[in-house]
Amino acid sequence: MEIKENHFLKPHHTFGIPAYSRFFTEVHSVEELQQALADPLLEKHPYLILGGGSNVLFQNDYPGMVIKVSIMGREVLEVTPETVRLKVNAGEDWDQLVEYCVENNWGGLENLSLIPGNVGTSPMQNIGAYGVELKDCFQELEALEISNGKIRTFNKKECRFGYRDSFFKKEGKGKYIILSVTFNLTANHHKVNTRYGQLEEELKTMGIHKPGITHIRQAVCNVRRSKLPDPALIGNAGSFFKNPVVSFQKFRELNAAYPEMVAYPDGKDIKLAAGWLIEKAGWKGYREGDAGVHYKQALVIVNYGNASGKDLLSLANKIQKSVHEKFGVELEAEVNIV
Ligand code: FAD
Ligand code: EPU
Repeated sequence: MEIKENHFLKPHHTFGIPAYSRFFTEVHSVEELQQALADPLLEKHPYLILGGGSNVLFQNDYPGMVIKVSIMGREVLEVTPETVRLKVNAGEDWDQLVEYCVENNWGGLENLSLIPGNVGTSPMQNIGAYGVELKDCFQELEALEISNGKIRTFNKKECRFGYRDSFFKKEGKGKYIILSVTFNLTANHHKVNTRYGQLEEELKTMGIHKPGITHIRQAVCNVRRSKLPDPALIGNAGSFFKNPVVSFQKFRELNAAYPEMVAYPDGKDIKLAAGWLIEKAGWKGYREGDAGVHYKQALVIVNYGNASGKDLLSLANKIQKSVHEKFGVELEAEVNIV
């Protein structure tokens, strides 16, 4: 395990910010991870666990050690005529996993195609897209408990998954490092999920009437490519904010003023489309130097080249304030601000 000093972080995250970390190491095994955590440098410096860097915003250079988790490998634990159990280590790329599953005709993850990032991070915010969330195929995960170095298994209930949320973002925050995730997939007779409006429309455009998992993956990739900026070309971290959940009463008030408002039921509450709120508040396509709001998806804050973390955060704060003033709704960041 090599520890580098003053390491350039731009290649390790998707916002394109030219931040440096005081120290940096990449770990390829649990032993290397334990070794990094035991390093005397951490007596004086903080550390940050990093996966694919697609959901972080560096405000400044990082004053401590960035530990990039690159523990690779996957193992098929069990195959029955109906199901497959697959254990995947944290450092594996998420979309490569989805591609591998679809190629093997294992169903469940296809709606989550093209989400950047690593497998080990996927439970953190219970990644979700196009009608499916990680929890729908999740069996268990293994995590290193930082305080005692023990490896602990968490079942689905213990992970307390919610919308863009889990135990690891709440009580478990900063206490565990996820090492592997085990998935329950379907082996045959897949029940595909086409409920998401835009997915259904795309399948129609593709001329597909009885979609299989390969079609779903293709349709999701098409929709995503049509509206989300590619981080390889324009820095971004996907949705900057979560879609806010409001009471039914609050929704009724808003809906009376804005009957065209986009909203979805969420238990007894209502989830609003933050992209719609931001667009309606006039921010879509807005640009301030190199910090901007994407012209096709107002929920995505972008770095056109040389924006700093502070520039992006300042724009995010202005959007929050403006949406609050116009609608009385709080937008909470989805991105992890470091
Ligand atoms: P990182 O950015 O590296 O880390 C995120 C957080 O997790 C940090 O706080 C980090 O400290 C912590 N962390 C990382 N690894 C571990 C670990 N092994 N154990 C414990 N903590 C860890 N998300 C969705 O849910 N749905 C989408 O549709 C979606 N679309 C996106 C589209 C684009 C273009 C982009 C750029 C992002 C999108 N995202 C989406 C957000 C992002 O891809 C996910 O949140 C992804 O799971 C982040 O993974 P990562 O490995 O890059 O995480
Ligand atoms: N909308 C607008 N203007 C915009 C953007 C959206 O009016 O600029 C409205 C549209 O009417 C659209 C609705 O909002 O029908 C929802 O938009 P979209 O389908 O693009 O989804 P989203 O709610 O903006 C969420 C996730 C995405 C995920 C998609 C697809 C959150 C915070 N974001 O976006 O996840 O890919 O649904 O399921 O829940 C991410 O988390 O980084 C991410 C990209």
